[in-house]
Amino acid sequence: MRIVRSVGEVRAALAPLRGGTVGLVPTMGAYHDGHLSLFRAARAECDTVVASLFVNPTQFLASEDFGAYPRDEAADATLAAESGVDLLYAPTVDEVYPAGFQTHVEVAGLAELLEGAHRPGHFRGVATVCLKLFNTIHPDRAYFGQKDAQQVAVVQRLVRDLDVGVEVVVVPTVRDATGLALSSRNAYLSPEEREVAAALGRALTAGASAWRAHPGDAAAASATARAVLAAEPRLTVDYAEVARFDSITVLAGAIRVGRTRLIDNVVLDEGDPPA
Ligand code: PAJ
Repeated sequence: MRIVRSVGEVRAALAPLRGGTVGLVPTMGAYHDGHLSLFRAARAECDTVVASLFVNPTQFLASEDFGAYPRDEAADATLAAESGVDLLYAPTVDEVYPAGFQTHVEVAGLAELLEGAHRPGHFRGVATVCLKLFNTIHPDRAYFGQKDAQQVAVVQRLVRDLDVGVEVVVVPTVRDATGLALSSRNAYLSPEEREVAAALGRALTAGASAWRAHPGDAAAASATARAVLAAEPRLTVDYAEVARFDSITVLAGAIRVGRTRLIDNVVLDEGDPPA
Protein backbone atom coordinates (compact mmCIF):
# COMPACT_ATOMS: atom_id res chain seq x y z
CA MET A 1 0.00 0.00 0.00
CA ARG A 2 1.25 3.45 -0.93
CA ILE A 3 0.61 6.59 1.12
CA VAL A 4 0.25 9.84 -0.83
CA ARG A 5 -0.37 13.36 0.45
CA SER A 6 -1.16 15.64 -2.48
CA VAL A 7 -3.77 15.88 -5.22
CA GLY A 8 -0.98 15.65 -7.80
CA GLU A 9 0.46 12.48 -6.27
CA VAL A 10 -2.96 10.75 -6.15
CA ARG A 11 -3.66 11.59 -9.77
CA ALA A 12 -0.22 10.41 -10.88
CA ALA A 13 -0.58 7.16 -8.92
CA LEU A 14 -4.01 6.46 -10.43
CA ALA A 15 -3.23 7.48 -14.03
CA PRO A 16 -1.86 4.06 -15.09
CA LEU A 17 -4.74 2.26 -13.32
CA ARG A 18 -7.67 3.97 -15.09
CA GLY A 19 -8.35 0.93 -17.26
CA GLY A 20 -9.88 -0.80 -14.22
CA THR A 21 -12.49 0.31 -11.70
CA VAL A 22 -11.48 2.57 -8.83
CA GLY A 23 -13.26 2.40 -5.45
CA LEU A 24 -12.97 5.21 -2.88
CA VAL A 25 -13.60 4.89 0.86
CA PRO A 26 -13.59 8.35 2.49
CA THR A 27 -12.62 8.24 6.19
CA MET A 28 -11.37 10.33 9.08
CA GLY A 29 -9.25 7.49 10.53
CA ALA A 30 -9.20 5.75 13.93
CA TYR A 31 -10.17 2.58 12.12
CA HIS A 32 -12.51 -0.05 13.55
CA ASP A 33 -14.37 -2.95 11.97
CA GLY A 34 -16.95 -0.56 10.45
CA HIS A 35 -14.24 1.10 8.35
CA LEU A 36 -12.67 -2.27 7.56
CA SER A 37 -15.98 -3.62 6.24
CA LEU A 38 -16.06 -0.68 3.80
CA PHE A 39 -12.50 -1.44 2.67
CA ARG A 40 -13.38 -5.11 2.18
CA ALA A 41 -16.52 -4.28 0.21
CA ALA A 42 -14.49 -2.00 -2.06
CA ARG A 43 -11.75 -4.65 -2.39
CA ALA A 44 -14.33 -7.26 -3.46
CA GLU A 45 -15.82 -5.02 -6.17
CA CYS A 46 -13.04 -2.78 -7.52
CA ASP A 47 -9.67 -3.24 -9.22
CA THR A 48 -8.07 -0.42 -7.24
CA VAL A 49 -9.07 0.65 -3.72
CA VAL A 50 -8.29 4.15 -2.49
CA ALA A 51 -8.99 5.23 1.09
CA SER A 52 -8.79 8.85 2.16
CA LEU A 53 -7.67 9.61 5.70
CA PHE A 54 -8.43 13.20 6.62
CA VAL A 55 -9.93 14.64 9.79
CA ASN A 56 -11.94 17.31 8.02
CA PRO A 57 -11.99 20.52 10.08
CA THR A 58 -14.92 22.10 8.22
CA GLN A 59 -17.43 19.46 9.38
CA PHE A 60 -16.74 20.10 13.07
CA LEU A 61 -18.45 22.95 14.91
CA ALA A 62 -16.16 25.24 16.87
CA SER A 63 -17.47 23.64 20.10
CA GLU A 64 -16.81 20.08 18.89
CA ASP A 65 -13.97 17.58 19.15
CA PHE A 66 -11.78 18.39 16.12
CA GLY A 67 -8.69 18.79 18.31
CA ALA A 68 -9.36 15.67 20.38
CA TYR A 69 -10.47 13.43 17.48
CA PRO A 70 -8.40 10.20 17.68
CA ARG A 71 -5.48 10.20 15.22
CA ASP A 72 -3.07 7.31 14.66
CA GLU A 73 -1.95 7.21 11.06
CA ALA A 74 0.59 4.40 11.51
CA ALA A 75 -1.98 2.01 13.05
CA ASP A 76 -4.57 3.04 10.43
CA ALA A 77 -2.12 2.44 7.58
CA THR A 78 -1.45 -1.11 8.83
CA LEU A 79 -5.18 -1.89 9.10
CA ALA A 80 -5.94 -0.37 5.71
CA ALA A 81 -3.16 -2.37 4.03
CA GLU A 82 -4.36 -5.58 5.69
CA SER A 83 -7.91 -4.88 4.46
CA GLY A 84 -6.88 -4.53 0.83
CA VAL A 85 -6.42 -0.76 0.40
CA ASP A 86 -3.95 0.00 -2.43
CA LEU A 87 -3.57 3.73 -1.97
CA LEU A 88 -4.04 5.80 1.19
CA TYR A 89 -4.58 9.50 0.51
CA ALA A 90 -3.69 11.35 3.73
CA PRO A 91 -3.48 15.04 2.87
CA THR A 92 -2.70 17.97 5.17
CA VAL A 93 -5.36 20.57 5.97
CA ASP A 94 -3.47 23.05 3.73
CA GLU A 95 -3.59 20.63 0.80
CA VAL A 96 -7.38 20.34 1.05
CA TYR A 97 -8.07 23.94 2.06
CA PRO A 98 -5.29 26.10 0.59
CA ALA A 99 -5.06 29.80 1.43
CA GLY A 100 -7.94 31.68 -0.16
CA PHE A 101 -10.32 28.69 -0.19
CA GLN A 102 -13.89 29.98 -0.47
CA THR A 103 -16.09 27.48 -2.32
CA HIS A 104 -18.55 25.26 -0.46
CA VAL A 105 -21.27 22.76 -1.33
CA GLU A 106 -24.63 23.19 0.39
CA VAL A 107 -27.27 20.44 0.19
CA ALA A 108 -30.01 22.74 1.36
CA GLY A 109 -33.09 20.89 2.66
CA LEU A 110 -31.51 17.67 3.85
CA ALA A 111 -28.88 19.50 5.85
CA GLU A 112 -31.56 21.19 7.98
CA LEU A 113 -32.96 18.00 9.55
CA LEU A 114 -31.76 15.79 12.42
CA GLU A 115 -27.94 15.98 12.45
CA GLY A 116 -28.03 19.15 10.39
CA ALA A 117 -30.30 20.88 12.91
CA HIS A 118 -28.06 19.85 15.81
CA ARG A 119 -24.77 20.48 13.99
CA PRO A 120 -25.29 23.56 11.76
CA GLY A 121 -22.68 23.63 8.99
CA HIS A 122 -21.69 19.98 9.50
CA PHE A 123 -23.09 18.70 6.21
CA ARG A 124 -21.69 21.66 4.29
CA GLY A 125 -18.26 20.49 5.43
CA VAL A 126 -19.04 16.84 4.61
CA ALA A 127 -20.46 17.66 1.16
CA THR A 128 -17.58 19.96 0.30
CA VAL A 129 -14.85 17.51 1.27
CA CYS A 130 -16.62 14.59 -0.44
CA LEU A 131 -16.95 16.52 -3.70
CA LYS A 132 -13.27 17.46 -3.49
CA LEU A 133 -12.37 13.80 -2.96
CA PHE A 134 -14.56 12.76 -5.91
CA ASN A 135 -12.88 15.41 -8.09
CA THR A 136 -9.39 14.39 -6.95
CA ILE A 137 -9.83 10.63 -7.26
CA HIS A 138 -12.60 10.22 -9.87
CA PRO A 139 -13.74 6.90 -8.38
CA ASP A 140 -16.22 4.65 -10.17
CA ARG A 141 -17.72 3.75 -6.77
CA ALA A 142 -17.62 5.43 -3.37
CA TYR A 143 -18.36 3.46 -0.20
CA PHE A 144 -20.27 4.87 2.78
CA GLY A 145 -21.64 3.32 5.96
CA GLN A 146 -25.37 3.05 6.73
CA LYS A 147 -24.36 4.08 10.28
CA ASP A 148 -24.41 7.68 9.01
CA ALA A 149 -27.74 7.47 7.15
CA GLN A 150 -28.19 11.21 6.69
CA GLN A 151 -24.63 11.57 5.40
CA VAL A 152 -25.44 8.91 2.80
CA ALA A 153 -28.56 10.86 1.78
CA VAL A 154 -26.60 14.12 1.52
CA VAL A 155 -23.88 12.50 -0.61
CA GLN A 156 -26.42 10.76 -2.87
CA ARG A 157 -28.25 14.07 -3.36
CA LEU A 158 -25.09 15.97 -4.23
CA VAL A 159 -23.99 13.24 -6.65
CA ARG A 160 -27.35 13.46 -8.44
CA ASP A 161 -27.69 17.24 -8.33
CA LEU A 162 -24.14 17.96 -9.53
CA ASP A 163 -23.87 15.02 -11.99
CA VAL A 164 -20.80 13.64 -10.27
CA GLY A 165 -20.95 10.27 -12.01
CA VAL A 166 -19.96 8.09 -9.07
CA GLU A 167 -21.94 5.11 -7.81
CA VAL A 168 -22.60 5.46 -4.07
CA VAL A 169 -22.45 2.06 -2.36
CA VAL A 170 -23.95 1.76 1.13
CA VAL A 171 -22.51 -0.81 3.56
CA PRO A 172 -24.50 -2.11 6.59
CA THR A 173 -23.72 -0.88 10.11
CA VAL A 174 -21.24 -2.97 12.09
CA ARG A 175 -22.08 -3.34 15.82
CA ASP A 176 -20.43 -4.89 18.85
CA ALA A 177 -21.99 -7.75 20.84
CA THR A 178 -24.08 -5.31 22.92
CA GLY A 179 -25.59 -3.73 19.81
CA LEU A 180 -23.49 -0.55 20.10
CA ALA A 181 -22.63 0.70 16.61
CA LEU A 182 -18.86 0.90 16.16
CA SER A 183 -17.61 4.48 16.02
CA SER A 184 -14.26 6.20 16.29
CA ARG A 185 -15.85 8.27 19.08
CA ASN A 186 -16.49 5.13 21.17
CA ALA A 187 -12.80 5.53 22.14
CA TYR A 188 -13.90 8.45 24.34
CA LEU A 189 -16.23 6.23 26.43
CA SER A 190 -15.31 4.78 29.83
CA PRO A 191 -16.39 1.14 30.39
CA GLU A 192 -19.46 2.39 32.29
CA GLU A 193 -20.33 4.89 29.55
CA ARG A 194 -20.06 2.11 26.96
CA GLU A 195 -22.78 0.20 28.80
CA VAL A 196 -24.93 3.33 28.93
CA ALA A 197 -24.37 3.97 25.20
CA ALA A 198 -25.63 0.50 24.33
CA ALA A 199 -29.13 1.78 25.19
CA LEU A 200 -29.18 3.55 21.80
CA GLY A 201 -28.89 0.28 19.88
CA ARG A 202 -31.52 -1.31 22.13
CA ALA A 203 -33.86 1.66 21.71
CA LEU A 204 -33.64 1.55 17.91
CA THR A 205 -34.20 -2.22 17.87
CA ALA A 206 -37.30 -1.77 20.05
CA GLY A 207 -38.52 1.05 17.80
CA ALA A 208 -38.05 -1.15 14.72
CA SER A 209 -40.15 -3.90 16.38
CA ALA A 210 -42.91 -1.37 17.05
CA TRP A 211 -42.75 -0.36 13.37
CA ARG A 212 -43.09 -3.99 12.28
CA ALA A 213 -46.10 -4.38 14.62
CA HIS A 214 -47.65 -1.14 13.30
CA PRO A 215 -46.18 -0.58 9.83
CA GLY A 216 -46.02 3.08 8.87
CA ASP A 217 -46.67 4.30 12.43
CA ALA A 218 -43.73 6.65 12.87
CA ALA A 219 -45.07 8.01 16.16
CA ALA A 220 -45.21 4.52 17.71
CA ALA A 221 -41.69 3.66 16.55
CA SER A 222 -40.11 6.87 17.82
CA ALA A 223 -42.09 6.81 21.12
CA THR A 224 -40.93 3.23 21.75
CA ALA A 225 -37.31 4.19 21.13
CA ARG A 226 -37.60 7.28 23.33
CA ALA A 227 -39.10 5.22 26.16
CA VAL A 228 -36.07 2.90 26.17
CA LEU A 229 -33.73 5.89 26.21
CA ALA A 230 -35.73 7.61 28.97
CA ALA A 231 -35.14 4.59 31.20
CA GLU A 232 -31.40 5.35 31.21
CA PRO A 233 -30.84 8.54 33.26
CA ARG A 234 -27.12 8.68 32.49
CA LEU A 235 -27.70 9.80 28.89
CA THR A 236 -29.41 12.74 27.21
CA VAL A 237 -31.33 12.48 23.95
CA ASP A 238 -30.80 14.91 21.07
CA TYR A 239 -33.43 13.16 18.95
CA ALA A 240 -35.01 9.79 18.18
CA GLU A 241 -37.10 10.14 15.05
CA VAL A 242 -38.33 8.37 11.96
CA ALA A 243 -36.93 10.03 8.84
CA ARG A 244 -37.46 9.32 5.18
CA PHE A 245 -34.53 9.96 2.85
CA ASP A 246 -35.70 9.43 -0.74
CA SER A 247 -36.49 5.72 -0.92
CA ILE A 248 -35.28 4.71 2.54
CA THR A 249 -37.03 5.13 5.89
CA VAL A 250 -34.90 4.98 9.03
CA LEU A 251 -35.35 5.36 12.76
CA ALA A 252 -32.43 7.60 13.71
CA GLY A 253 -31.17 8.58 17.13
CA ALA A 254 -28.52 10.81 18.66
CA ILE A 255 -27.54 10.76 22.33
CA ARG A 256 -24.94 12.26 24.59
CA VAL A 257 -23.16 10.16 27.19
CA GLY A 258 -20.90 12.35 29.32
CA ARG A 259 -19.03 14.51 26.79
CA THR A 260 -19.48 12.05 23.93
CA ARG A 261 -22.13 12.41 21.25
CA LEU A 262 -23.20 9.23 19.43
CA ILE A 263 -25.54 8.61 16.50
CA ASP A 264 -27.09 5.45 15.10
CA ASN A 265 -30.07 4.32 13.01
CA VAL A 266 -31.93 1.27 11.82
CA VAL A 267 -33.51 0.85 8.41
CA LEU A 268 -37.31 0.48 8.61
CA ASP A 269 -38.20 0.36 4.92
CA GLU A 270 -36.40 0.44 1.61
CA GLY A 271 -38.51 1.36 -1.38
CA ASP A 272 -37.69 1.75 -5.04
CA PRO A 273 -34.95 4.23 -5.86
CA PRO A 274 -36.37 7.57 -7.05
CA ALA A 275 -36.58 8.10 -10.82
P1 PAJ B 1 -15.73 8.41 9.49
O1 PAJ B 1 -16.52 8.72 10.71
O2 PAJ B 1 -14.28 8.05 9.62
O3 PAJ B 1 -16.47 7.25 8.73
C1 PAJ B 1 -15.98 6.80 7.48
C2 PAJ B 1 -17.02 5.87 6.89
O4 PAJ B 1 -17.17 4.73 7.75
C3 PAJ B 1 -18.41 6.53 6.79
O5 PAJ B 1 -19.00 6.21 5.55
C4 PAJ B 1 -19.16 5.90 7.95
O6 PAJ B 1 -20.56 5.84 7.75
C5 PAJ B 1 -18.54 4.51 7.98
N1 PAJ B 1 -18.76 3.88 9.29
C6 PAJ B 1 -18.46 4.39 10.50
N2 PAJ B 1 -18.87 3.54 11.50
C7 PAJ B 1 -19.43 2.47 10.87
C8 PAJ B 1 -20.04 1.26 11.33
N3 PAJ B 1 -20.15 0.98 12.61
N4 PAJ B 1 -20.51 0.40 10.40
C9 PAJ B 1 -20.42 0.68 9.06
N5 PAJ B 1 -19.84 1.80 8.58
C10 PAJ B 1 -19.36 2.69 9.46
O7 PAJ B 1 -17.99 9.68 8.01
C11 PAJ B 1 -16.91 10.24 7.98
O8 PAJ B 1 -15.76 9.67 8.48
C12 PAJ B 1 -16.72 11.61 7.36
O9 PAJ B 1 -17.88 12.36 7.52
C13 PAJ B 1 -16.30 11.56 5.85
C14 PAJ B 1 -17.37 10.88 4.99
C15 PAJ B 1 -14.95 10.83 5.69
C16 PAJ B 1 -16.11 13.02 5.32
O10 PAJ B 1 -15.15 13.68 6.05
